Amino acid sequence: MKRTNRKRGPMTTAIHGGEAPDPATGASAPPIHMSSTFVAEDVAGFSAHDLGDGGEGFIYSRWDNPSVAMLEAKIAALQGTEDCLCLASGMAAATAIFLTFLSAGDHVVVSDVSYAGVAELARETLPRLGIDVTMVDMSDLEAAADAIRPTTRLVHTETPVNPIMRLTDLKAVSDLAHASGALHSCDATFASPLGLDAAGLGVDLVMHSITKYIGGHGDAVGGAVAGRADLIARLRKEAAIHHGGVLSPFNAWLIARGAATLPLRMKAHQAGASEVAGWLEAHPAVTRVMYPGLPSHPQYDLATRQMTNFSGMISFQVGAAEKGRIFARQMIDRLEVIHYAVSLGHQRSLIFWMETGPLMETSFRLEGSQLTSYRDFAGDGIFRLSVGLEDAEDLIADLENVLR
Ligand SMILES: Cc1ncc(COP(=O)(O)O)c(C=O)c1O
Repeated sequence: MKRTNRKRGPMTTAIHGGEAPDPATGASAPPIHMSSTFVAEDVAGFSAHDLGDGGEGFIYSRWDNPSVAMLEAKIAALQGTEDCLCLASGMAAATAIFLTFLSAGDHVVVSDVSYAGVAELARETLPRLGIDVTMVDMSDLEAAADAIRPTTRLVHTETPVNPIMRLTDLKAVSDLAHASGALHSCDATFASPLGLDAAGLGVDLVMHSITKYIGGHGDAVGGAVAGRADLIARLRKEAAIHHGGVLSPFNAWLIARGAATLPLRMKAHQAGASEVAGWLEAHPAVTRVMYPGLPSHPQYDLATRQMTNFSGMISFQVGAAEKGRIFARQMIDRLEVIHYAVSLGHQRSLIFWMETGPLMETSFRLEGSQLTSYRDFAGDGIFRLSVGLEDAEDLIADLENVLR
């Protein structure tokens, strides 16, 4: 059959990307390939170093697996990159980037605020391996430029950043990184591939916790890195085949099933979050709301320039930390629809209290202007709210019942 080369829209890509009817049975829905090994058709080498251009078929599920490959192709298509590698968690994806592209003596610039696990990995593990780390407020481009050295191999950003919703100008940071020969990796989990064309903005390695929006249903943990084929091939050899933290075929299948509705879900997340954010902003108990889709966000201009969907992530403040703790307790006792739980990007709305003081001790350790910038966005603490797919009126009624 003759195929057209027509570029498909995001809804079609989310559904059909990486998929094809099963050649063995004609099944329209993709099967789950729960096989650890694959019968070889040729006498082949036994090492990761024998990997060719990817045309050698499946060998062993730590190298690649058909169900995982289907998800990888779907995410690459959604993100607009040549290739993608899926791993067992978002943290496995972050670790893969750092340990594949950095060696002892190299220097990396990392956003001074990021998902706490990534911040702790950068602060605690990388220096132990002889990697020099500089943590920088990536919304301050001058600070980012000043941090880059001749030995800088990688600049790692996250936007919008977890948990404070501060944004990074990805094109500007890509230009800075590339001018010094460094790669730019970005954790785009909060935006999803629908909210940010990170690769189009020059990011070499686009990372996602696919536990969140891409999977979207709160039932499977996974991670992904999307980028150029040569970079993903290096990651596959090092992080999948050698470090071994691969995604299970069952989780890949669940996440691919979720990813099929990503464009629809992102539209609904954005619509719900806009309504809830507007309501929160007008509530007397709420002192500040941070949502990139609100004109009151300090980087609203950048948000409208860079983001194609504002997603469902909101943070809001209620004043002193003591007050936040009281409301958090009330949420645990009184919320009927929203779950008081960590994580994000699911169909169920989730909320969690994140107090600035304790987070500085465990994860961020910021001082001076970096602490001031954090507090500009988060005050004494924030509620991180992941607006799910429920009716906005029900979420508002649930919050109304607590914020009194
Ligand atoms: C922005 C971001 N990156 C990475 C991670 C880590 O992902 P995972 O929990 O899948 O390891 C998270 C988890 O919350 C996250 O929010």
